[in-house]
Amino acid sequence: MNRKQPNIILIIICTGLGLFILTCSVSKGFVRNLFDQPTPYLLKISIFPDSLNIPADNPMTVEGIELGRYLFYDGRLSGNKDKKKLMSCASCHKQEHSFECGIDNPLYKGGRPHGLSGKETPHVMLPLINLAWINEGYLWNGKISNSNNTLGDEKLGVPAEPIYNYKNIESLVWMSIVSPYEIAGNIEKTVNTIQNIPLYPPMFKKAFGSDTVTIERIDKAIAQFIRSLVSCNSRFDRFMDGKAELTTSEMNGLTLFTTERGDCFHCHGSPALPLWTTNLFMNNAKDIDFNEIGDRFSVTHNPRDRGKYRVPTLRNIELTAPYMHDGRFKTLEEVLEFYNSGLKRSPYVDPLMINMNHGGMHLTNKDLIDLKAFLLTLTDSTFITNPQYSNPLPWNKYFIK
Ligand code: HEC
Ligand code: HEC
Repeated sequence: MNRKQPNIILIIICTGLGLFILTCSVSKGFVRNLFDQPTPYLLKISIFPDSLNIPADNPMTVEGIELGRYLFYDGRLSGNKDKKKLMSCASCHKQEHSFECGIDNPLYKGGRPHGLSGKETPHVMLPLINLAWINEGYLWNGKISNSNNTLGDEKLGVPAEPIYNYKNIESLVWMSIVSPYEIAGNIEKTVNTIQNIPLYPPMFKKAFGSDTVTIERIDKAIAQFIRSLVSCNSRFDRFMDGKAELTTSEMNGLTLFTTERGDCFHCHGSPALPLWTTNLFMNNAKDIDFNEIGDRFSVTHNPRDRGKYRVPTLRNIELTAPYMHDGRFKTLEEVLEFYNSGLKRSPYVDPLMINMNHGGMHLTNKDLIDLKAFLLTLTDSTFITNPQYSNPLPWNKYFIK
């Protein structure tokens, strides 16, 4: 027997052990860092357009979305730990109402929310649903858009710095924190509070590679979570996919919607644009005088934009009463009655309101029932029950209703 063999075996064992030890120690540094890279999150929905509104400096990642979800639901985002002063995005944006507050919310009577200071928001809510596909501007009047170059707002104590711009969902995060109508907070206090909650620094490290909390990272994480809120599984979507049926009444409603008899498709999309909105700004003939301060005109200063608001999505419309920017209609029946016989003539009405000349659609009661039946097929119950969108924190602990 060759006497050298055991030595070779020993060397192999030692080398193996050495490598093993080496691997273990490396795993604390290099290898772990390798795995600490946030995991890219691909947002691609085949039935929606490809043109996503995602800033180049905030790509979506699994870890960023998860952090954003915690912050979205955490009342300590207000910079307070006192239970009476907790407020988060989810205080108003509720999953069961497609992330609006709901007309039946005891805290916000009639669906008009008010912020921590008690001030009512100037407009009623918009849902947080498929927002990554909005390129025309956010809010009812489109004030927040990529072409906007306004910085910060000294009146609100927000410095004029590039991160405090009014361009995208990221800006809506800090705006909601400082807005006197919403969280009525203070950026510095919010950042300090979040930094000192032990749960968060490790989550910031996973999402952004550093456990330092900054307002920029808070903005980015919550914006990522909001972009992940996708609805594409209503009964109508399943019908288009050959996986569900529509009743005769719903089919008739669809025909009315997509032809000039009902004339909804010009502004609210169609089976070919199943976001169920064009996201354009329109005047839909509700009024004669236009002197409201928050309309599209207030952004563009173009006189032709008086009384224009962004066309809202009709996805989950069943869950998002009250309707229109001022919540003037409490039910879908009231909305349909308006489009049927309540149109008001003014020089500002959009030419796409084809039925303007007759003051409305003038459908029979049965047709109105069918149109409503069709609208209800756009409800996506999987969206409002998706656990990935729900509150990850213990209920009632860090969160007011
Ligand atoms: C007090 C209630 C309230 C709170 C709290 C609140 N929001 Fe909102 N949110 C609203 C209202 C009302 C609107 C519509 C405002 C408008 O267009 O004038 C809105 C609109 C938005 C929009 C624009 C949606 C669109 O389609 O253009 C985004 C995004 C948004 N909120 C994010 C947030 C985030 C993020 C937070 C938490 C940091 C938050 N909101 C906290 C009431 C609230
Ligand atoms: C010329 C464009 C246009 C046409 C045509 C049109 N709408 Fe609208 N719709 C709008 C605009 C703009 C708003 C928001 C107006 C506001 O808030 O002041 C709106 C709001 C609504 C709302 C309330 C949405 C919400 O979240 O508050 C419903 C429901 C609605 N439309 C349904 C319909 C139906 C059904 C038809 C067809 C009978 C129709 N619309 C035709 C432009 C249009």
